[in-house]
Amino acid sequence: MSRSVRDYIRSIHDFPHEGIIFRDVTTLFADARGFRMAVDQLLHGYAGARIDKVVGLEARGFILGGAVAHQLSTGFVPIRKKGKLPGTVISEAYQLEYGEAIMEIHDDALRPGERVLIVDDLLATGGTAAAAIKLCRRLQAEVVGCAFVVDLPELGGRKLLEGMDMPVHVLCEFE
Ligand code: PRP
Ligand code: ADE
Repeated sequence: MSRSVRDYIRSIHDFPHEGIIFRDVTTLFADARGFRMAVDQLLHGYAGARIDKVVGLEARGFILGGAVAHQLSTGFVPIRKKGKLPGTVISEAYQLEYGEAIMEIHDDALRPGERVLIVDDLLATGGTAAAAIKLCRRLQAEVVGCAFVVDLPELGGRKLLEGMDMPVHVLCEFE
């Protein structure tokens, strides 16, 4: 039987902490067929939708988001961790497993009314994606959806995003 996107993802036990099973998408990205399948399937959720910009989340969302933007012939906008973007930024804090982190976007990266697709590799608690949605909305862009290769449903991210009226598209799940 042919391999699905999920089959290309490697699981590494006890990374970055004991007890965590890290879902490693580098093995998906490294395989020509797997990478193309993932990008094509991310796009399937948006056939016929008007999308003006793809927003990718640091770091693995840059790899997927760049490929998706190329396929859609749109521009690509990065959302980065604090202190990495050179221009004037707006910021959103979000919760990590331990403590807090900050995501940033250039304050002129999106125009009011632009239709945006947010892309990342993995949805866990949803904190990162929720911060990204807030940043795009503060710039008065319309976020049409969030697309991920992996969802970890036990961590509740999908529910959090859907509670923000955000359609979520995922390619596979791991418990
Ligand atoms: C991972 C992943 C998502 C985020 C998901 O990135 O790539 O961006 O965690 O977690 P959440 O849904 O609980 O917010 P990470 O923060 O490890 O950063 P990195 O991609 O820069 O390594
Ligand atoms: N981010 C949060 N939890 C993760 C996991 N289990 N695997 C990969 N990235 C993650």
